[in-house]
Amino acid sequence: MLSELLLTEMARLSQQDNMPLHRQLYEAMRRAILDGKLAAGDRLPSSRELTQDLKLSRNTVVAALNQLAVEGYLLSRVGSGTYINENLPRSQARARNSHIPTHLPRLSRRGTALSTTFCANQLEIQPFTPGIADFSAFPVALWQRLQNKHWRMTYPEMLDYSYSGGHAPLRRAVADYLRVFRSVPLEVDQVIITSGTQQSLELCAQLLADHGDTVWLEDPAYWGAVKAFMATGLHTHAIAVDEHGIAPTPADENHAPRLIYTTPSHQYPTGAVMSLPRRQQLLTIAGRHDAWILEDDYDSEFRFSGPPLSSLAGLDQDQRVLYLGSFSKVLYPGLKLGYLVVPKRLVAAFKQAHYDLNRPGQMPLQAALAEFIELGHFASALRRARHSYAQRRECLLQALQPCLGQHAHISGAEQGLHLCLRLPNQLDDKALALRIGNLGLTVRALSAYCVHRNDARGLVIGYGYAPLAAIERYGPVLARAIQSELALLD
Ligand SMILES: Cc1ncc(COP(=O)(O)O)c(C=O)c1O
Repeated sequence: MLSELLLTEMARLSQQDNMPLHRQLYEAMRRAILDGKLAAGDRLPSSRELTQDLKLSRNTVVAALNQLAVEGYLLSRVGSGTYINENLPRSQARARNSHIPTHLPRLSRRGTALSTTFCANQLEIQPFTPGIADFSAFPVALWQRLQNKHWRMTYPEMLDYSYSGGHAPLRRAVADYLRVFRSVPLEVDQVIITSGTQQSLELCAQLLADHGDTVWLEDPAYWGAVKAFMATGLHTHAIAVDEHGIAPTPADENHAPRLIYTTPSHQYPTGAVMSLPRRQQLLTIAGRHDAWILEDDYDSEFRFSGPPLSSLAGLDQDQRVLYLGSFSKVLYPGLKLGYLVVPKRLVAAFKQAHYDLNRPGQMPLQAALAEFIELGHFASALRRARHSYAQRRECLLQALQPCLGQHAHISGAEQGLHLCLRLPNQLDDKALALRIGNLGLTVRALSAYCVHRNDARGLVIGYGYAPLAAIERYGPVLARAIQSELALLD
């Protein structure tokens, strides 16, 4: 009876929208709950029973159930199964009791694609979640003092939108940092403060490419960039990454790029460092097609071994590289401040459009950050973070040692806050990541970042968020789960 109901709804959803199966099942169950067809307190069949009744893979069923549990529709009671939550959040209970329609809102095709592909799991912050720094170390009291000081000193202009590309002292501080540490040759005027890399990417896509133009991306890719380009209506052409970074072939040049998005100093997520010949090749290709390169330098502050790398922007003779940086990793992501360095010939257009499209502001916050940098607090936060992440990275590498060998190796551990454990192609990395998720640890499957290719398997494992003690404790748990999967291949 339940399975018939779910299958009918899933069939309807699959005709209406091109949703993946786990999303169809999730949506069908969610509606059954909201419509009262599954009553509060009801016990659900086990995932094994649902797998059999619905003739779906277990991964599909588990992914749908996990999502419903994360959103509070289901509750697990140890030893007795899974139940429909009796205390659904108020807005959802209301939808259920009244006759407000619960069918999917009519989204645009783009809206549907944006809300159903490359979605970050809501249960993100657990030991080993990639891409997250440890913001518990942020000096909150000091930050509060600086903010209070700037709010006290604030004069009316500071409360207005900012039309100059951001607070001048912050732009100066960023320019000084980039000149010294990233060899980016620049003048202060080229720095534009944004609300982070996501906004910088949108601005680049909006100003430098037209709807339907092609952007080259790395495959596997950073989800945030894929979404920024989807949202701006660009055609994405994904190019496989090898151990030297994005590796375009002559055939790729048939899809002439207007933009090339890349993470050369630590490819996200494989960790590949782009070699010098590859950097030169990319600059030559960009020149040939009169394309712009968007260099996302998201975690270069954390380099643990190997010589310091200079940026791609530092090699650019032609002024066609735009350099994107963020304070999300060194300070905290909710700060929502980053920077974009644009070639001189783009400065006026970018400032104007940034003002018109985004109405930037937050000047007292920018002033506090500028002072935080000028007084040396940024440098000491960075020093402390580097030291602490180096220990965590070492500890994780130690824990993963028993997994390494014929079937598994590590890439990208020289820099950043994550590494990538590369696994053989016959291994289902998404199922392994789910199994590890059931242990209360979050790692991401490398294949989940792939746009087209089907030959990259592995686990993307973060060491930034988890304290050293958690890595010491859970590293061996993670390693055992991986080892038992690898043992099946022998
Ligand atoms: C590749 C990459 N770029 C940029 C960012 C930071 O983006 P934002 O400044 O929008 O927080 C991240 C964060 O996870 C990232 O992984």
